[in-house]
Amino acid sequence: MKSGLEDIVAAETVLSDVDGQNGRLIVRGISLDDLVTTSRFEDVAALLLDGFLPIPSDLRAALGAARVSVFKHLSDAGALAELPVVDGMRALLARLGDGDGIVTALELLAAPSVFTAGLLRAKSRQSAIKPDASLSHAADTLRMLRDAMPTEEQVAALDRYLVTVADHGLNASTFAARVVASTQAGLTSSVLAALSALKGPLHGGAPGPVLDMLDGVGAPGNASAWLSAALDSGERLMGFGHRVYRVRDPRADALKGAVRMLAASGAIDPARLALAEAVEAAALQQLRLRKPDRALDTNVEFYTALLLEALGFPREAFTAVFAMGRVAGWLAHAKEQALEGRLIRPMSVYVGPRPQVAA
Ligand code: CMC
Repeated sequence: MKSGLEDIVAAETVLSDVDGQNGRLIVRGISLDDLVTTSRFEDVAALLLDGFLPIPSDLRAALGAARVSVFKHLSDAGALAELPVVDGMRALLARLGDGDGIVTALELLAAPSVFTAGLLRAKSRQSAIKPDASLSHAADTLRMLRDAMPTEEQVAALDRYLVTVADHGLNASTFAARVVASTQAGLTSSVLAALSALKGPLHGGAPGPVLDMLDGVGAPGNASAWLSAALDSGERLMGFGHRVYRVRDPRADALKGAVRMLAASGAIDPARLALAEAVEAAALQQLRLRKPDRALDTNVEFYTALLLEALGFPREAFTAVFAMGRVAGWLAHAKEQALEGRLIRPMSVYVGPRPQVAA
């Protein structure tokens, strides 16, 4: 058996295709390269949910109304302020109804944005900012975070991020969502299971440690020596390697594009970008040298870290921001799995002791 279930097909899906050999991601027939230039988060959520739920004709307005509706759950956010953001979000999501229809789905789509902003403000003893249903999801998320309107470039950058991470085949969190959906539990249960899987550093928890790595390196000239020492001590370099991609993760390029857009508008310190590029180049060189038989390239998390930092999210909230985008995919997969109507129940091989048989 393969303990990571690699190469095991566990679902048929119309939602997304991760082509690891060629570095391509297709979401419902559209390549990521096109999707990031033509779509906003609301469009991609509608694309993913199409056929699985009755999507309101104006999803942007419906999502705005759902943000307003879930805001009430932040009334005691202060009590959760000591928890890591993703754990606070888990506690708040558990308050939503566990239905399987569009009302629950819209609340779940809206909640990670409202809860992340509210929990972050609670941590700095500030009250949560009420959602503005008239704004796009990305714009309102940034506004609720800072209590000020973001620039167009900042909104475009967050939108691109949310679109880029909205769905990605049968990754660990999506599989968790599908397992729960196969038991006919509700959508909230699926999303809670998925969020719990996302939080680990081998999945959605990597971008915070990417920034720790940049801080550790400090200056471009230190990159090779620092990374070499980290690898010597058995560490994995965060933001590199992938279970499926054998070439560069296409999402890394989509996000690098967004980072460059932000840099052009002065929203990223050029020295920070230069440091990141030096670390990326040195990491790729080291990984090629040390693992010549295993293609380890830049993954989505490397430029995610730079992008979210530039947008003002603290690193402890990065996984929660990932959930803001990926929740669209989780919901669509949960609905797709539920329609399949078959409980997921694989087998294990027992390798423990057996009762003694009397001679
Ligand atoms: N740095 C150093 N060595 C690595 C790395 C890395 N980032 N990734 C894999 N390796 C090594 C690994 O130690 C192993 O070496 P050996 O054969 O000597 O034991 C070899 O490469 C093969 O690794 P693997 O564990 O079989 O690879 P995997 O397919 O199970 O791992 C991964 C995929 C993403 C868990 C891994 O590459 C990793 O830990 N990366 C760092 C964490 C990270 O960036 N996570 C975000 C992933 S992208 C977000 C998403 O889509 O979920």
